[in-house]
Amino acid sequence: AIDIAKLRDLTGYVTLDVGYKNTGATKSAITFLDGELGILKYRGYPIEQLAEKSSFTEVAYLLIYGALPTADELKDFETKISRHTLVHEDMKKFFDGFPAGSHPMGQLSSLIGALAAFNPLSLKPGLTAAEVDDEIIKLLAKMSTLVSWIYKKSLGHPFIYPQNKYDYVSNYLHMTFGQRTEEVEISPVVVSAMNKLLILHADHEQNCSASTVRIVGSSDANLYASISAGISALWGPLHGGANQAVIEMLEKIKADGGDTDKWIAKAKDKNDPFRLMGFGHRVYKNFDPRAKIIKKACDDILEDLGINDEVLEIAKRLEEVALSDPYFVERKLYPNVDFYSGIIYRALGFPTEMFTVLFALGRLPGWIAQWKEMKENKEPIGRPRQIYTGPTTRDYTDISSR
Ligand code: ACO
Repeated sequence: AIDIAKLRDLTGYVTLDVGYKNTGATKSAITFLDGELGILKYRGYPIEQLAEKSSFTEVAYLLIYGALPTADELKDFETKISRHTLVHEDMKKFFDGFPAGSHPMGQLSSLIGALAAFNPLSLKPGLTAAEVDDEIIKLLAKMSTLVSWIYKKSLGHPFIYPQNKYDYVSNYLHMTFGQRTEEVEISPVVVSAMNKLLILHADHEQNCSASTVRIVGSSDANLYASISAGISALWGPLHGGANQAVIEMLEKIKADGGDTDKWIAKAKDKNDPFRLMGFGHRVYKNFDPRAKIIKKACDDILEDLGINDEVLEIAKRLEEVALSDPYFVERKLYPNVDFYSGIIYRALGFPTEMFTVLFALGRLPGWIAQWKEMKENKEPIGRPRQIYTGPTTRDYTDISSR
């Protein structure tokens, strides 16, 4: 391998790759992605098999520890998580400070960053592997409680506390849709759909948020700070925020009379900033394998729940038109995971602004795995270079003579 630092010292050149379109930032054994063929595997297991057969906690274990757990290992992992789902009562005061209607992603990144203040051990230099594991368990556990409380806050409803009798996903749904006054039945169809969605979002190699988590963690920042930074990176509409943007776009098209041809023309017009949200991907130049699974799940869930969603019809028409249009074909723009996930979240009763938070809940094990791998590989601090394009030396002039 070429020693880049030595090459730079010898030649004085730096590599310029704005947006890191073809720059490998690390070696990783977590997720394999072939964008040309549309293949995605976690630790070698095809995403299709995991989405069909696995549970979210099993996939979380696989991503973080590198192998599928035995029955005992999984039970131990899930028990440890369920013991940490309560959050410090003082964390509730944060919710009083957020204005009504503030975006759930802003709340989530603040709350997760604040967890470091409630877990000062996480700041100790040189944590042992067992101590790191404790922090990982706490984060996985408390994230689901905080995510559901963000939703309750948006409704102005009382928070529901976690109950250890439920599995991870059911507990999350219980805290989200449950009530204090009565036991609410959560349908197994909803639990299964939620598991699938979380699994499909669990990791995606060196994307914008995972790279953010690694680069923040490379300065030795604590786990909570690194994940909070990843949440902020995910928020943007060009990344995880696309799931919210897709539904908003579909609603707009519906309100505009449902003329998909008109909106496809807008997306192709280079003088119009509009882009077809949920289409295109930096790495996939083929169908996003996650979109294929989600599309099928979306049909099944709407049928199971007896929902007839006009927005889904618009989505299907858009997909059909785009996939046969030379503009999209030549640029290899296919629907990505976010194109259909929002329709499922909507059918499950989540408000649009919660969609990206649900993505973050799913992506958490992937971020943790990326952070842990970066630490275990003892990677150096991430510090890109630049090509300076500013003025050469200028002499300071006094303000009176400018
Ligand atoms: N609608 C219309 N045109 C598009 C779209 C789109 N959604 N996406 C890309 N293009 C066009 C670009 O205008 C460009 O055309 P040109 O070559 O004529 O200039 C060409 O396709 C290549 O696009 P880039 O922006 O260079 O591709 P890049 O890899 O930088 O961007 C991205 C990828 C950000 C995902 C982009 O396709 C996009 O903005 N999509 C919509 C937002 C979205 O769905 N994001 C979610 C991604 S998946 C995820 O994060 C979970």
